[in-house]
Amino acid sequence: MSQKPQLTILGCGVLGRAIVDGLLSGVSQEYRIALTHRRSDAAKALQVDFPKAVVSTDNKDARIWSGTVSRHIVLIGAQPRYTADVCRDISAAVAVLEQQRQKTPLTVVTVCPGITVAELASWLPAGTPIVRSMPNTPISVGQGATAIFASASTPADTVSELLVIFRLMSPVVTVLPREELMDAVASVSGSCPAYVFYLLQGIAAAGESLGLPADATRQLVAQSCLGAARLMQETPESSLGDLLSNVCVPGGSTEKAIRTLDRFDTGSAVQAAVKEAWKANLEMGKTSKSH
Ligand SMILES: NC(=O)c1ccc[n+]([C@@H]2O[C@H](COP(=O)([O-])OP(=O)(O)OC[C@H]3O[C@@H](n4cnc5c(N)ncnc54)[C@H](OP(=O)(O)O)[C@@H]3O)[C@@H](O)[C@H]2O)c1
Repeated sequence: MSQKPQLTILGCGVLGRAIVDGLLSGVSQEYRIALTHRRSDAAKALQVDFPKAVVSTDNKDARIWSGTVSRHIVLIGAQPRYTADVCRDISAAVAVLEQQRQKTPLTVVTVCPGITVAELASWLPAGTPIVRSMPNTPISVGQGATAIFASASTPADTVSELLVIFRLMSPVVTVLPREELMDAVASVSGSCPAYVFYLLQGIAAAGESLGLPADATRQLVAQSCLGAARLMQETPESSLGDLLSNVCVPGGSTEKAIRTLDRFDTGSAVQAAVKEAWKANLEMGKTSKSH
């Protein structure tokens, strides 16, 4: 009988759960799943929700590392400030698997901004294949947008496998050619839900101030946003400028609204906001090196 692959999530919180949910709902090939959480109450809840998974409060638990599996993807889901600790926890076990790499290829995947492949490599045994990924919060409802960057030592078939896994909860997954683009992705798609919520908050507040019931406003605004995004995806031949002018009948109310946004230079403000997030992500990369 052929062996199963294994997916391990160390620090299985909100994002980790979304990934396991996606995996269990969609992948044809069955994975052995191992999950950790540093708190025992949270580990117990994981075991209830995912009864077939190996669940532990110990990242070094032998049950995670000694199973006979065809390949092993180890995703670090803990908050960025704990990533170094988790890498140190697992370093010895990864070294053992690395020595038998032909038998059990292993890849370590991170999901956070600011921690580079070089730093991760310094915390893990030499030559460990490392993949950085940058999903965003809609991943928890199966609608994420994710970018990944793979270190040179990552086999191409592992990258393909990760694309399949991430696409289960993130319909768009992009492979980046250069690692520094991760900072741009973090500030563009990583933070994009926040930019959208900010705008929607303003639209909803205006709707309510004009007498619309809050529930109806929320639904109308959310669906308008979904519909606009779908229109953008399904008409790649149209530029965003075209899509915008399609809604703006000359002299009409929407055109007047957009002119008001222009008067406040909203387009430039949005670009400045994204660049500020980008600088903060660059800075995060520098400060994490000092930890
Ligand atoms: N949530 C999203 O949609 C999303 C989207 C994009 C990227 N991300 C990134 O994904 C990472 C996780 O985000 P999240 O929202 O899933 O966070 P989360 O819900 O806080 O999950 C991380 C979990 O790891 C646990 N943990 C911390 N240190 C640990 C250790 N040494 N061993 C085992 N478990 C440990 C934490 O325990 P405690 O609860 O005790 O702290 C926490 O429950 C972050 O880097 C975040 O930036 C998340």
